[in-house]
Amino acid sequence: MVNLAGKKVLVTGGAGFIGSHLVDSLIEKGCEVVVLDNFDDFYSGKERNLARHIGNERFRLVRGDILNYELLLHVMKGVEVVFHEAAQAGIRYCNLNPVKAHRVNVEGTLNVLLACKERGVKRIVYASSSSIFGKTGFIPINEACPTNPGSPYGATKLAGEKYCLSFHEAYGIDVVCLRYFSVYGPRGRPDQVIYSMAYRMLTGNRPIVYGSGEQRRDFTYVSDIVEATLLAAETEGIAGEVFNIGFGKDFSINELLKILFNTMSIDEVEPEYLESYRGDFERTLADNSKAQRILGWRPRVSLEEGVRRFVEWLGDTLKCEERV
Ligand SMILES: NC(=O)c1ccc[n+]([C@@H]2O[C@H](COP(=O)([O-])OP(=O)(O)OC[C@H]3O[C@@H](n4cnc5c(N)ncnc54)[C@H](O)[C@@H]3O)[C@@H](O)[C@H]2O)c1
Repeated sequence: MVNLAGKKVLVTGGAGFIGSHLVDSLIEKGCEVVVLDNFDDFYSGKERNLARHIGNERFRLVRGDILNYELLLHVMKGVEVVFHEAAQAGIRYCNLNPVKAHRVNVEGTLNVLLACKERGVKRIVYASSSSIFGKTGFIPINEACPTNPGSPYGATKLAGEKYCLSFHEAYGIDVVCLRYFSVYGPRGRPDQVIYSMAYRMLTGNRPIVYGSGEQRRDFTYVSDIVEATLLAAETEGIAGEVFNIGFGKDFSINELLKILFNTMSIDEVEPEYLESYRGDFERTLADNSKAQRILGWRPRVSLEEGVRRFVEWLGDTLKCEERV
């Protein structure tokens, strides 16, 4: 295992949901952490995700775009590991903005890879997505299942992954791809299902469900995702590998709603069912045995526990906003 303590690392998109949790753990591990993030206006409030690290001499925040190659070269000076988390996320948003998704997720990833090659970065960990599978036709989904993304978002994340793997083949770049499955937790993105349903319920509105609510997801708590991401940086001999990072249990959106009602001690109300959007898929369920076997990763946080932690965070955050 590589010891990350004392190493200089870069987290692209480090102000975002997953990236900021990763930064917390990297600082805790004793790394020198550089964040490159353009605070994209897809959603607001990211400044507070990193507030606790401002002033720490092992932390540097650079506001900028991964599409700026010169800036990437600059921030990668002396960097040994790059965690590439920056992306245009959100299936619905990317359906409406496919060109932006392509620019950030494909051209941006290519830029990151080129700069890593130029700077001799020792390992890149790429945040891929279960969305690359789309209608794969297999359950549970293992790493060998066909990829059939049914959305521009999924297509761009798959293209990014293919670029990563091609840089490994063509130039011997040490890169590992992690296919995250439906990540949730504190600092989550407002467009995500758990966030949006809980937010509406806490603010006295009926939750919105797209489609019948019978679509199933493998929800994975953010601390489990961060742990897998760190293991992917620390484990030796895995260059060019892809791993499914999902809890390994699926729930329907209607089942998730019941957990939310229970957790929040709110009487159940009929959700507002809206037409499902294209590019949504019926079911995800990760076969995570490869990550368990090779990375030694074990997901720990059940959906019930994760939802409890998330709801507590959201309640506190809304109270703070009311006071401001
Ligand atoms: N959250 C999930 O459920 C999930 C699932 C699968 C994969 N992923 C992947 O994980 C990564 C992190 O996702 P997230 O949910 O934390 O999203 P997020 O939107 O919270 O984080 C992405 C960050 O990237 C930054 N960013 C966007 N465009 C940029 C650019 N051009 N230059 C620099 N920074 C830019 C944003 O400002 C944001 O802080 C993404 O690569 C996403 O595709 C997320």
